Amino acid sequence: MSAKASKEETRADGFHHIPGFLSVNEIHALLDAARSICLEAPLLRPRMTIGGKVIDFKLTLTNAGPLGWWSDERGFRYVDRHPVTEMPFPPIPEIILDIGKRALARCELPPMRIENCLINHYAEGESLGQHQDRTEEDLDAPILSLSVGADALFLLGGMDRKNPTRKYLLRSGDLVIQSGPSRRAFHGIKQIYPTIGNPLRDRGRLNFTLRKVTKETL
Ligand code: SIN
Ligand code: FE2
Repeated sequence: MSAKASKEETRADGFHHIPGFLSVNEIHALLDAARSICLEAPLLRPRMTIGGKVIDFKLTLTNAGPLGWWSDERGFRYVDRHPVTEMPFPPIPEIILDIGKRALARCELPPMRIENCLINHYAEGESLGQHQDRTEEDLDAPILSLSVGADALFLLGGMDRKNPTRKYLLRSGDLVIQSGPSRRAFHGIKQIYPTIGNPLRDRGRLNFTLRKVTKETL
């Protein structure tokens, strides 16, 4: 496999891959944060309608913050309550907001109002098809992503689904930022790989996506 593994990359289109951005302590703090968020707002499997057929996502997710991303028969959207418990999502833990600030500074991007922390969980064999993040009102604010657990093959394409893709191997502790033109690029997780030393008991992968959703400023 020729995925870009451990070299830091900052591209002219605003895409950043910073391998090993998180310390071991931060990785464990993120795991603890995910566990307590999941106790209040359990992981759910979203669905989407394609050609009249309802299809289950090949991952489960939950959220922290005032707005949570969700998808079901009614489409992609942000909601202010967990779809099953009907309670607001737990607040985004300070440690995650601090990591977000440090990530933006590391990539020389201005501070941003982080309104959503989406937590994706990929069990062994799960994946996420190529898509653009287009549910936000603000499509210009960067998208931050932190990886914890199993390695993953991330495919980054262009503005058109048919554009060629580039492979990146995302490992536990890696930061990815899609800013500038790359904010709207197609991307997805083709597969995850069994990883030695995976801190997740089920050998899966967690991805924390930090986003600004509305047009409100700081
Ligand atoms: C996403 O695009 O929503 C998640 C990407 C990832 O899991 O790294
Ligand atoms: Fe995405």
